[in-house]
Amino acid sequence: LTKKDMKGKNVLITAGPTIEPIDPVRNITNRSSGKMGYELARSFSYRGANVVLISGPTSVNPPYILKKFISVKTADEMRNAVMKYYQNSDIIIMTAAVSDFKVKNYSDVKIKKDSGEITLQLIKNPDILKELGEVKKESQLLIGFAAETNNLLDYAKKKLIEKNCDIIIANDVSKKDIGFDSDLNETYIINKMGDVTHVEKSTKKDIAFRIIDYISNSGFIKA
Ligand code: C5P
Repeated sequence: LTKKDMKGKNVLITAGPTIEPIDPVRNITNRSSGKMGYELARSFSYRGANVVLISGPTSVNPPYILKKFISVKTADEMRNAVMKYYQNSDIIIMTAAVSDFKVKNYSDVKIKKDSGEITLQLIKNPDILKELGEVKKESQLLIGFAAETNNLLDYAKKKLIEKNCDIIIANDVSKKDIGFDSDLNETYIINKMGDVTHVEKSTKKDIAFRIIDYISNSGFIKA
């Protein structure tokens, strides 16, 4: 029987990649599958939480027990959706691989190949997690993800501080069998006191359960 230790908690989760249009037929995106965020959304729901999932385009089906599913494409759309829903949330988890850059001058007609060479100018997207770190209330638990290929723990700790998170969950995306696109993951949970908890290689479903156990036992959230 599933424990209902998240009963009544409002949880906001972002997941998947974002896509940034170049012209009507072309996008910039990344390899995020959305699986980690969807598994968290599913598990939180099973454990009694009211989950709002805000997702970029993925090929996985949203869990049917969500309170609300919001589909977005670009980082700007994801940001606006997060800002609309975060205030009521007890726990906010950003698993989305938000595109760091967007195209500066979107072409509303298809770009032709005649010129032989083109230059795309990119400008920075909003950093949603950082913005939340600046406005969040003391009572809200803010959790970020860090996907890195090297210096995993150092970079993750740096992000935790820069973005004012309570917890950051780090995973190594240089390994072929875990992380992006995979059903498997291996993570390190780092809290703002600097404690590191290793969650050994397992399915994303299992990792989601362990992350929620950690949150449940961490003392970060009040009953
Ligand atoms: O991209 P970066 O490595 O900084 O991502 C770390 C965390 O910040 C992730 O939780 C990601 O979802 C979040 N993020 C965000 N908005 C961005 C970039 C990242 O919310 N524009």
